[in-house]
Amino acid sequence: MRERNRPCRFVLGLMMALTIPSGILLVSVAEASSSSVDQTLLARGKYLARAGDCAACHRAPEEDGPAYAGGYVIHSPLGDIVASNITPSKSHGIGSYSEEDFKHVLTEGKRPDGTQLYPAMPYTSYRGLKDEDIHALYQYFQFGVEPVEKDIPETNLSFPFNLRAGMVLWNQLFLSDPYTSQENQDAKVDRGHYLVDTLGHCGSCHTPRNALMAEDHARYLSGADVEGWHAPNITSAASGIGSWSESQLAAYLETGHVPGLAQAGGGMADAIDHSLRYLTDEDRNSIAAYLKQVPPIDTGSPLDMEEVSGSSEAPELAVLEPVQATDPDTLTRADSIDGRRLYQGACASCHQVDGQGTSDHFYPSLVHNTATQGDSVNNLVMAIIQGVDRQTDAYHVSMPAYGDSLNDEQIAAISNHVLQTFGNVDLSVEAQQVAQLRRGGPSPWLVSAMPWLLGAGGLIALAVVVAIGTMLRRRKVCR
Ligand code: HEC
Ligand code: HEC
Ligand code: HEC
Repeated sequence: MRERNRPCRFVLGLMMALTIPSGILLVSVAEASSSSVDQTLLARGKYLARAGDCAACHRAPEEDGPAYAGGYVIHSPLGDIVASNITPSKSHGIGSYSEEDFKHVLTEGKRPDGTQLYPAMPYTSYRGLKDEDIHALYQYFQFGVEPVEKDIPETNLSFPFNLRAGMVLWNQLFLSDPYTSQENQDAKVDRGHYLVDTLGHCGSCHTPRNALMAEDHARYLSGADVEGWHAPNITSAASGIGSWSESQLAAYLETGHVPGLAQAGGGMADAIDHSLRYLTDEDRNSIAAYLKQVPPIDTGSPLDMEEVSGSSEAPELAVLEPVQATDPDTLTRADSIDGRRLYQGACASCHQVDGQGTSDHFYPSLVHNTATQGDSVNNLVMAIIQGVDRQTDAYHVSMPAYGDSLNDEQIAAISNHVLQTFGNVDLSVEAQQVAQLRRGGPSPWLVSAMPWLLGAGGLIALAVVVAIGTMLRRRKVCR
């Protein structure tokens, strides 16, 4: 044992003498503040925050940053939008918001100072939240979350999208009636409807948008593209989830995986990771029951999917032997664009040469798979570029990302091999399309048309100026 010297022992003693009482003081202050808040209400608020997936956006940019500290950048088609710090910090977060202020943010997208928020914050969905749920959320964000005293960068969109006041007009045009409970709707279906339309904000990805980027209610949940991925049709149509059973849907929302049918990548993997897997079975079953009732919207040919035995069961942990993946670096050196050979080098170790995957379905079949059998190539291409990364309660799912090791031509070649051999033979992929998906997919009309709109607006403004100028000069001449 090392002998500590005297001054050091004195300092230590002094520190302990000071810290013990102040520790007791801190504990009693904390107890006083939390005991005045109803703990069941806090737990409920926490559950609702999970169901609303607030953490998906309001996280810190770094992986293990403090909860709800904000600063994470959302790459919207209009530009980068920074999610706010929503911890109860009075100076940097929402600590000084009253419950009424908080409600206005969630239901109208308006800050207490009157600034309009961009609909990257899904207030268009949250506006249907019941008052009691807003109350529980408010309590949780005021008393259940640690304040984080940290500034985040400002959102700075380019002109004219930087004019937040423009959102007043947008809201007037597109802010639709909030969700209200339907009288003769079965209670379970009604609960599912509420969760899908408000907290779950499923439509923000699954409903196509109109030219001005608002959800098109006539095509409710019939499928849309998000950041390169395709959020499929989840109406009850045959080209949607018409052939899925309620238990398959509920299992998908819990684990992101239904053997022989579908897996969740991209934004859906995030939604499951941070939100849906924490819901109660009852809530997930309600969502499934509601989706089966959503009026069908046909968007293409029905999927040709065979029943696979033991369908909605999660794979047994014991049989999840990791398969040796081909080192992506060895692929960079291979300048082959032969899809079949590339598939055998990069994919067959897990999905097998015949595309049937492993018998436990952990490495999924590419034959019975909505990503290869549907009407969109996006999820096949995006899975190759970004891989799949998802946590379930029982195990971790991971497919490596090949975006850096394979070029656009190679990814197109593999995709075409997969489609021709295992998938929808009517589809094909070109290198150009891969390049576009890497950038997040085609720009929406509003963004690509903006230079022309601005040009036209500029010409009109110029014409007005010239007209006024001429008028004034004429008057002078007349005088
Ligand atoms: C899909 C992403 C996303 C989700 C999910 C989301 N938010 Fe937001 N939220 C944002 C963005 C982005 C902003 C800032 C928008 C802006 O700057 O116009 C924001 C702003 C806010 C603000 C305003 C704070 C301020 O800047 O004054 C509050 C409060 C808020 N969100 C609460 C929530 C709560 C509570 C939830 C969950 C029920 C939630 N958000 C879910 C993206 C999201
Ligand atoms: C952030 C965007 C996003 C949100 C929010 C979202 N989804 Fe998804 N969803 C996707 C994407 C992308 C896919 C495709 C995933 C894949 O195949 O890799 C998907 C796939 C699905 C599928 C499987 C469909 C198929 O044919 O394979 C179902 C079912 C589903 N989502 C239901 C929901 C429900 C219910 C909600 C709301 C509680 C929801 N999603 C919210 C993006 C989203
Ligand atoms: C190390 C094993 C491994 C390798 C190698 C691999 N995958 Fe995967 N793949 C997976 C896993 C695991 C999943 C996700 C399973 C789940 O979500 O439950 C997956 C999912 C997929 C999906 C469905 C994606 C979705 O979001 O619906 C497609 C398509 C796919 N892989 C194609 C490929 C192709 C093409 C290659 C070769 C470029 C490849 N995979 C290489 C393990 C692998």
